[in-house]
Amino acid sequence: MMTTDHIRRLFLEFFKSKNHKIVASDSLVPKDDPTLLFTGAGMNQFKEMFLGRNVTYRRAASSQKCLRTGDLNNVGKTSGHHTFFEMLGNFSFGDYFKAEAIAWAWEFFTAVLKIPENMLWVSVYKDDKEAYSIWKDSIKVAPARIVALGEKDNFWPSEAPSKGPNGPCGPCSEIFYDYGPAVGCGNTGCSPICDCGRFVEVWNLVFTQFDRQPDGSLKALPNKNIDTGMGLERIASVMQGVKTNFEIDIFKPIVETIEAYSVERIAYSDKKSNAIRNTQYAIRSKASAIADHIRAVTFCIADGVMPSNDERGYVVRKLIRRSMS
Ligand code: SER
Repeated sequence: MMTTDHIRRLFLEFFKSKNHKIVASDSLVPKDDPTLLFTGAGMNQFKEMFLGRNVTYRRAASSQKCLRTGDLNNVGKTSGHHTFFEMLGNFSFGDYFKAEAIAWAWEFFTAVLKIPENMLWVSVYKDDKEAYSIWKDSIKVAPARIVALGEKDNFWPSEAPSKGPNGPCGPCSEIFYDYGPAVGCGNTGCSPICDCGRFVEVWNLVFTQFDRQPDGSLKALPNKNIDTGMGLERIASVMQGVKTNFEIDIFKPIVETIEAYSVERIAYSDKKSNAIRNTQYAIRSKASAIADHIRAVTFCIADGVMPSNDERGYVVRKLIRRSMS
């Protein structure tokens, strides 16, 4: 089995071999950025460099601790939502652009992780002919496995052109792992926009080339940049052949320990009745959410955020309370 630690190491070594500076994860508490409660993406610590300021190196790669609260209600109910997770990313500050970012992502997946090419689909922003043609003509991905989508799916931040926020943004291209037609809805037209579970988005390549202005216009940045993000736990679930992120090597022992503490614990091997199955599902779902929240709270406290009644501390308090109820 390819462990999560090994995948992280392979990723950082791969980009080191492409002359990237390996940068340590930033704190979950962003420095000098009052617009953010928590660090929620690998690019946060590089925002100034994307704006062309204080650029001391032009290529970086990291595994960034992230906390996002937007999906809180889904944690434990779906296969892959988290509050706390690690985001693998490679970044270019006015150095390489779409051709290299796409080629290296493909090389990492197919040559390093050895994922068969035909299990990968990609999406591009509908107006990004350049990205489309790199995928089709240089990488030779079959057009049937390239989908062109709108700004909700293929712009980062999502819908930035029409809704903001202001600041660095750009079209993106996502790479999806295909579990195959036997998984999910079974419809012939099923593609990555279908949420039936057949496809999982594993890597987002953002071509950060604009600085959205207060009047909503997209001003070209002085330099074109690359910002990629891949959820470590999600790619680990693909590589380890498990159905949910909570079954990967770094989560399983935590989830199982929480289950063992549950007074209502029922042997998972017993699949005789729906009632038992439903109870098992409920316990697993709750244990997964608690495992997620324990990690989030642990990393928050380690970064200096104590439970309290406001702002960051309130999030920590809420996560603890939800785990206990
Ligand atoms: N910033 C992008 C994201 O969070 C890619 O890293 O998806």
